[in-house]
Amino acid sequence: MRIILLGAPGAGKGTQAQYITEKFGIPQISTGDMLRAAVKAGTPLGVEAKKVMDAGGLVSDEIIIGLVKERITEADCAKGFLFDGFPRTIPQADALKTAGVKIDAVVEIDVDDAEIIKRMSGRRVHPGSGRTYHVIFNPPKVEGKDDVTGEDLVQRADDQEETVRQRLNVYHDQTKPLIDYYKGWSEQETGSAPSYVYVAGVGSVEDIRDKVFSAL
Ligand code: AP5
Repeated sequence: MRIILLGAPGAGKGTQAQYITEKFGIPQISTGDMLRAAVKAGTPLGVEAKKVMDAGGLVSDEIIIGLVKERITEADCAKGFLFDGFPRTIPQADALKTAGVKIDAVVEIDVDDAEIIKRMSGRRVHPGSGRTYHVIFNPPKVEGKDDVTGEDLVQRADDQEETVRQRLNVYHDQTKPLIDYYKGWSEQETGSAPSYVYVAGVGSVEDIRDKVFSAL
């Protein structure tokens, strides 16, 4: 199973990715998590990426495409993978197509901007795994601690309201066109085109999970 999760920042991609990867036994490839790992390690890529991420912009297509191409050759991707946060621009989607990477399904999780701004202030993440929580809507079992490791949860630097608004602007300008890109492809072609799945992303985390599973 090769799946793309599409949606605005904060739409719940990371939250649903946890369920999908477990059900299908495939790895989650989150370009955001890969970049945050590079930032934490202080690599030259991480130093460059941090400036862009903190400002709510997008890291260059060239860097992202290189990272993803390398990642999907690893052994754990043999049975498939879930892209979370990639592709995010038309050139990134074109690069996948040109490289002949076949995708089975594109899942759009749709949430409006006002709801997203409410969600982001309460988000907490486990930096080691990328597991995501919300202080009210999806709380961890023990406040401030990851359910699996018991390690501390943190708030992301780019979750301040002003940065979230900038990330939403970038989403509407550069990522939203991918909805028509994949919808159009799926309607025009059968066989090589991925199936397009739309899921309204407001409701309980479990309801959305069930909608995604039944669609897949
Ligand atoms: P990235 O890490 O990919 O961030 P994002 O796409 O902006 O998405 P988020 O991780 O913020 O949100 P999400 O949809 O996963 O939501 P979540 O499940 O956490 O990217 C960060 C940065 O890296 C980018 O800004 C860019 O600079 C760079 N980058 C990454 N990929 C790139 C690429 N391909 N090209 C160029 N640059 C790239 O949920 C949000 C909150 O809501 C959580 O607290 C959660 O618990 C809660 N929640 C989830 N579901 C529900 C629900 N149903 N009801 C209520 N609350 C809910």
